[in-house]
Amino acid sequence: MKAILATTATAIVLTAGVFTPATANEAAIKARQSLMQLYAFNLGQLGAMAKGTMEYNAESAQAAADNLLAAASMNQMAMWPEGTDNVAMPGKTAALPEIWTTFPKIAENGQALVAAAETMAGVAGQDLAALQGAMGDIGKSCGGCHKAYRASDD
Ligand code: HEC
Repeated sequence: MKAILATTATAIVLTAGVFTPATANEAAIKARQSLMQLYAFNLGQLGAMAKGTMEYNAESAQAAADNLLAAASMNQMAMWPEGTDNVAMPGKTAALPEIWTTFPKIAENGQALVAAAETMAGVAGQDLAALQGAMGDIGKSCGGCHKAYRASDD
C-alpha cells in the first residue's frame, strides 16, 4: 500500500513538473467542466425524481444531494485562472470574460448554489414533496450563473 501511494505521488509530481502554462490552462478548463458535469449528473437524478420519471428513493435522493453539496463546496480557485475565457481560448471553453472583469461578483452565484444545495441536502431524504420544494432554488442558481457568465451557444 505504502509503495503504491509513493508511486502515485511520484507520478503526480512528475506530471505536475511538465505542466506548461498552456496545458495548465487546458487542465483547469477540463477540471471545471468536469465539476459542472458532476453538478448536472447529481441534479439530474434529483430532477428526475422530482418530475416522477425516476421513482423517489430516500437513500438515492440523499446521496445525490450530498454529492451536489460536496461538489459545490469545493474550492475552485485554481480552476478559473485568468486568460481562460472564450475570447482568449476560443473553442475550448464557454466561460465569458465577464467572470474576470467583474470578479469577484461570480462568487455570489457560487454561494447561491451552495446555499440551495445545503437546503436540498437537508430535506432530500425526507420525502418527495420536500425534494420538489427545494428544486427551484437550485435551478435558479445554475441558470443565473450561466446567463451571466456562460456563452449561450454552448
Ligand atoms: C458560479 C457560476 C456557475 C454555477 C453556480 C453553475 N455553473 Fe455550470 N457553468 C458555468 C460556466 C462559467 C460554465 C462554462 C465553463 C467552461 O466552458 O469553461 C459552465 C458550464 C456548465 C456545463 C457544461 C460543462 C462542459 O462539459 O462543458 C454544465 C453541464 C453545467 N455548467 C451545469 C451546471 C449545473 C447543473 C449547475 C447547478 C447545479 C451549474 N452548472 C452551476 C458557471 C456556473
